[in-house]
Amino acid sequence: MVRSGEQVISNVVASQIATHQPYGGVVPELASREHLRAIVPVVRQALAEAGKTYESIDALAVTQGPGLAGALMVGISYAKALAFALEKPLIAVNHLEGHIHAVLLEERQKGNRELHFPLLALVVSGGHTHLYLAQRHGESWSYENIGHTRDDAAGEAFDKVAKLLGLGYPGGPIIDQLAKHGDARAVKFAISQIKHPDRRTASKIPSLGQNRATNGAAAGTFSSVNGSAAPKFDFSYSGIKTAVLRYVETQGLAESIEARRRALGGTAKPKLDDYLAHCDQQALDLIASFQRAMVGDLVSKTLAAAREYGVATLFVTGGVAANNELRETFEREAPEHGIPVYFPSRPLSTDNAAMIGAAAYPKFVARQFAPTDFSAEAGLALR
Ligand code: KG4
Ligand code: ZN
Repeated sequence: MVRSGEQVISNVVASQIATHQPYGGVVPELASREHLRAIVPVVRQALAEAGKTYESIDALAVTQGPGLAGALMVGISYAKALAFALEKPLIAVNHLEGHIHAVLLEERQKGNRELHFPLLALVVSGGHTHLYLAQRHGESWSYENIGHTRDDAAGEAFDKVAKLLGLGYPGGPIIDQLAKHGDARAVKFAISQIKHPDRRTASKIPSLGQNRATNGAAAGTFSSVNGSAAPKFDFSYSGIKTAVLRYVETQGLAESIEARRRALGGTAKPKLDDYLAHCDQQALDLIASFQRAMVGDLVSKTLAAAREYGVATLFVTGGVAANNELRETFEREAPEHGIPVYFPSRPLSTDNAAMIGAAAYPKFVARQFAPTDFSAEAGLALR
């Protein structure tokens, strides 16, 4: 439950990690079933923890997409039923806008209301690696996508590499912890760079930085509005997964990986020490090198985009934003370019309901309610 888009009164998260763990990734059918099982008790618990009744709610917010259609439909069906029974308005929210508003929610909570535009948001999760330029028009927000992954998302790469190395699911948090114990310079990974012929036209774009403004008096205009091609900053992370696999093969690591998989698979809720006990120095160095390559690419592309667009504020959000090395690198390098960088706290970096409530608030103020016939959109774009 969220009050006025800036105060979290309760935030209940039902984790499905244990359900998907044996499969090494999310199984869509199981995700829908788990949603169905959890949704009524989770909402009930959120109200109980907030000390509120159903009747005291002003409006309900639900994720419309993007995501797994079956899981989205469970949430939407329940939210529609609840809104109908309670006679409350229902607001449809884009999941990615939720990740961006997780940052805004906490900054407002800290009393930081001074936002400088243009604002660039890197949304980096299990399903997305997207760069959005965000504008505010009064209470409403709009977004322009200036880069996205052409294949795997960054979180997906963490998860797939962890699976490949016998570390289990989800890979991000485990790799994050183990990377600290390895030498990141041990293995050189080159991440595929996307050629952007239209990047050459970038100089024609008026620098938004010349026209900075604060607090939503959205500065400048986006490149596409000016009719020139927008420079793109795309990502690609399927190649690094193949490079890790090649390293495993050429170094003959298959046997030790299988032993690790068996040992960890037989340990209920393995802890860092359990992982460390089953990783030799070569494995730790490989993990650290992989993470360093991922972080280097995410940070350098995001900062290149930020410079190109004369960005005044940077948000980094989504599950992978919980990564320690990613945070530290952004915190070190963004200020060198004069750009302040903001992250959500770790609990609000990964998927949660508070961010959806926060993103719904401007729509509540603008009375942008969902039509009764709206449905789930697995590939919903953020605009
Ligand atoms: O945003 P999120 O909770 O769900 C999606 O919308 O996808 O992101 C989940 C992703 C997973 O791929 C997970 O491995 C990754 O975020 N992740 C991390 C960390 N914590 C979660 N990746 C790197 N380092 C972490 N500490
Ligand atoms: Zn997410």
